Amino acid sequence: MKYLSRSLTDTETYAGLALDFFSVQKNRTAATLVGLYGNLGSGKTAFTQAVAKLLGVGESVTSPTFVIEKIYEISKGDYRHLIHIDAYRLEQASEMMRLGWDGIIADPANLILVEWPEKIAEIMPENHIKIHFTFVDETTREIEF
Ligand SMILES: Nc1ncnc2c1ncn2[C@@H]1O[C@H](COP(=O)(O)OP(=O)(O)O)[C@@H](O)[C@H]1O
Ligand SMILES: [Mg+2]
Repeated sequence: MKYLSRSLTDTETYAGLALDFFSVQKNRTAATLVGLYGNLGSGKTAFTQAVAKLLGVGESVTSPTFVIEKIYEISKGDYRHLIHIDAYRLEQASEMMRLGWDGIIADPANLILVEWPEKIAEIMPENHIKIHFTFVDETTREIEF
């Protein structure tokens, strides 16, 4: 489905729909792994912040561009951790192994949102959930999943 977000409030509404979609798709034997596809400024980090807010993450969620990965504790619902990854600066997908990739994608308690999943395509399991973001105009973004 394609959704047109005209504000951060809309983006939060669609983040809620996405969370419902994730729970339908939920894999009980592995993490819920989501690739966030789209150009710079298309709203991938804004979407992740909306998901974090809906899951009750207390701390502020900022872009993990320089640290690659951030892990947030979740106290309510099905997941125990929200893991936010920005693969933009990675030279090689194998750099994710040093961050314990195999372990984090194996844990059903993890919801993992990956910005720039193209950068680590060879280690993203084929069946991951894909969300596409498109810049429409200054205040409008298309979100498709
Ligand atoms: N409808 C919208 N949904 C999400 N972000 C929006 C929207 N309209 C404007 N924006 C702005 O667009 C920017 C998106 O940036 P960001 O989420 O960091 O993009 P990305 O992570 O894809 O590079 C933010 O500054 C956000 O406030
Ligand atoms: Mg970003």
